[in-house]
Amino acid sequence: MPSKQPQPQQPQSPSRPQQPQAQQPQSQSRPQQPQAQQAQSPSRPQQPTVLVGVTGCIATYKTCEIIRLLQKAGARVKVVMTPMGASFVTAETFKALTREPVALEPIDSHSAPIHHITLAQEADVFLIAPCTANTLNKLAHGVADNLLTTTALATEAPLLLAPAMNVHMWRDPCTQESLGLLRARGVQIIEPEAGLLACGEVGEGRLAPIDQIAEKTVAEFARARDLAGKRILVTAGATREQLDPVRYLSSPSSGITGYAIAQEAARRGAEVTLVSGPTNLPDPFGCRVQRVGSALEMFVAAQGAFAGVDAAIFSAAVADFRPETRVERKIKKDTNLDADGSLTLKLVQNPDILATLAADKGSTYVVGFAAETNDVLAAARKKLATKHADLIVANDVSNPALGFGSTHNKVWFVTAQGTEESALISKTALARVLLDKVVAAL
Ligand code: C5P
Repeated sequence: MPSKQPQPQQPQSPSRPQQPQAQQPQSQSRPQQPQAQQAQSPSRPQQPTVLVGVTGCIATYKTCEIIRLLQKAGARVKVVMTPMGASFVTAETFKALTREPVALEPIDSHSAPIHHITLAQEADVFLIAPCTANTLNKLAHGVADNLLTTTALATEAPLLLAPAMNVHMWRDPCTQESLGLLRARGVQIIEPEAGLLACGEVGEGRLAPIDQIAEKTVAEFARARDLAGKRILVTAGATREQLDPVRYLSSPSSGITGYAIAQEAARRGAEVTLVSGPTNLPDPFGCRVQRVGSALEMFVAAQGAFAGVDAAIFSAAVADFRPETRVERKIKKDTNLDADGSLTLKLVQNPDILATLAADKGSTYVVGFAAETNDVLAAARKKLATKHADLIVANDVSNPALGFGSTHNKVWFVTAQGTEESALISKTALARVLLDKVVAAL
């Protein structure tokens, strides 16, 4: 997909050794749709532009310091505020800090003709910090009732939200549902911390540390387009091996990890095919999704998509066995039984999709998963060799708090070069870290 504007240049600064290369961001949610044409702005600065959205809560004063950190990292910062944001810290403060006009309603005569569109186009990354419950819930449902929310709807830049709110507002099912919707669209949520809140209550809802917010925003400059032009296959979810029309053999895998990988890869510009077993998850934005049932169906779909991909990530929990025969009509308590009243099932082996396809992988970078209950690392190293994988992501599923169905995981990345242990991270963060490794390998 062509870059929509000239590539921003890395600003010269010897004091910023860790600053990633600024890249033009890809549409975060619609990488496979035709790119909308945009007017070239001759005045576009050669620096990545972070648009900082400011909403109204007690943590709003912290945004001043976040802006300073982003500027130190080489970003040009522009601010868009909600009217409530401006009642906590004035637009004048942000104008002085950024040396840029601040976007705030009512729109004055000096504003650009279609202000939200100009702002949306200028942004390489859009960070909303702090993001109130009100704005977060509005964004989840596409409400565009002020300059900030309208700009969020109009931008194609990666969106990061750093929520800050009362613990009960955070835990409210409405907020949690909105967070799920936003994450599924590839919005990065910078989780609030638990602690003493401004309202006097204790719990989650305190704005994440400002250096963490700045760090994650800066990391987006580098990630925004780093998979552009790459084709990636992801398998996800559990397969279902039907015994009869109403019963099947399967595993509790939710598919969350594979979907997060597919979503993140699409957001970073890859052309993604997701082959998924049945899950309760919505299709990730911008991915070609093929839903299948059994391991045999997954094999056929994955085989069809494998040729020529740059990377293949096999995260599906594929059933190793299937019933030899699928009974056409529901098995009854008193039919199909052995003489002693028991029911015998004969299971036959399914093809190993990863091992079969990776045996002829050419230059495709192959990632497999290993969910183990014991001798995790030994099993992962064995799989690396026997399945012809370049990387195995191993985890211990004997811990019920991790792995299957949970939102967080702790893994080991096993390659021929060695083993690296991750921290306890969300599955979305795991997708990011894994794709950073894929990018490095490609
Ligand atoms: O051997 P095991 O099932 O533990 O291997 C797990 C890895 O192999 C995962 O990456 C999984 O997606 C893949 N796999 C597969 N086809 C199978 C079994 C596992 O692709 N039949």
